[in-house]
Amino acid sequence: MSGWNAWFDERATLRHARGTERTDAILRQKHSIDLASNDYLGLASDPRVVAAGVQALRTYGASAGASRLVTGTLPVHHDLEAALCQLTGNAAALVFSSGYTANIAAVTALTGRGAHLLLDAHAHASLHDAARMCRSPYELFAHNDVAALDARLAELSGVRVLVAVESVYSVLGDAAPLIELADVCRRHGALLLVDEAHGIGVTGAGRGSVHAAGLAGGDHLLVTATLSKSLGAQGGAVLGSPQLRTHLVNAARTFIFDTGLAPAAAAAAIAAIDIVVDEPDRVAGIGLRAALIADALHIEPSAGAVQSVPISSPAAAVAARDALAAQGVLVGCFRPPSVPDGVSRLRITARADLPLGEVARAIRSVAAQTAVLL
Ligand SMILES: Cc1ncc(COP(=O)(O)O)c(C=O)c1O
Repeated sequence: MSGWNAWFDERATLRHARGTERTDAILRQKHSIDLASNDYLGLASDPRVVAAGVQALRTYGASAGASRLVTGTLPVHHDLEAALCQLTGNAAALVFSSGYTANIAAVTALTGRGAHLLLDAHAHASLHDAARMCRSPYELFAHNDVAALDARLAELSGVRVLVAVESVYSVLGDAAPLIELADVCRRHGALLLVDEAHGIGVTGAGRGSVHAAGLAGGDHLLVTATLSKSLGAQGGAVLGSPQLRTHLVNAARTFIFDTGLAPAAAAAAIAAIDIVVDEPDRVAGIGLRAALIADALHIEPSAGAVQSVPISSPAAAVAARDALAAQGVLVGCFRPPSVPDGVSRLRITARADLPLGEVARAIRSVAAQTAVLL
């Protein structure tokens, strides 16, 4: 099999030349300031969240042990689904082992023969992968372009169409015009899927952008979510009507053929949801820090926790990220092919649990490193 290693080396050389190498190096050190993670509320290490996870480990063990359809459904899954409904204003929820599998489930179970999928061009990779798996024709529409979507839906009159967008985009941090998108979808009888991975726990006092827009529970709309970002746990969910939930239980392959969400993660997410509801100041802390970061870096503040700083080239972005890591400041570095518009960027997250002074100090380093004048 030595031929294969030669091929891997060849691919690695190509990636190196293009500046698109990825690495899973451990960057976190004890004293580093982490402005790269998606733990926006600092709940992953909150003692109440950790204690809930530990308690669930003791009660249920480390694994759900089977698919939810076999013996893998545990009371903690139904408790989590109820908590998610309460938080987001939806009538029903179904939890999955990740946000990724939740998106695959929703898209594939809602499309198929006779359907058509329209995807915002900046949508997350999991939605693009779902599109490839869904056995329906699919196409992209220009990012946040409601008029283009309207025109295409008019052409697809009579076809069952699913439209997929994010509420807050994961790389650029900008928001979708949800009210307009929902209106267009309703007029054309299309179903709008809103991925709230970066909205829940952040926007709309933590209840998400769909709730804030007054769209929760609508007949033409469903939400997908992850538990692994602001909720500090692991797992994903699809939220909508009870009929949608029943359909997914019967048709979503990443529900049927996947082991149920680990009970510790489910219990941790419930504790995190309680904190989001009980501590509005914590949620508001994201916006405060986002404004501080945007101001210091002379960029437009984004709708959510993610602030995005364009960098001239993939190599420059990597160099800036590595230099900052050496100074104990961790920032995300996104390059092609992981950026929707082909522009490399540093991705800086506003974390509500970091003291303002610490954020300000870290951002001064980022500004110096990216040659942005304070
Ligand atoms: C917009 C969006 N959707 C879905 C996911 C997948 O979520 P998870 O990490 O829970 O699989 C992510 C995570 O990166 C995301 O950013």
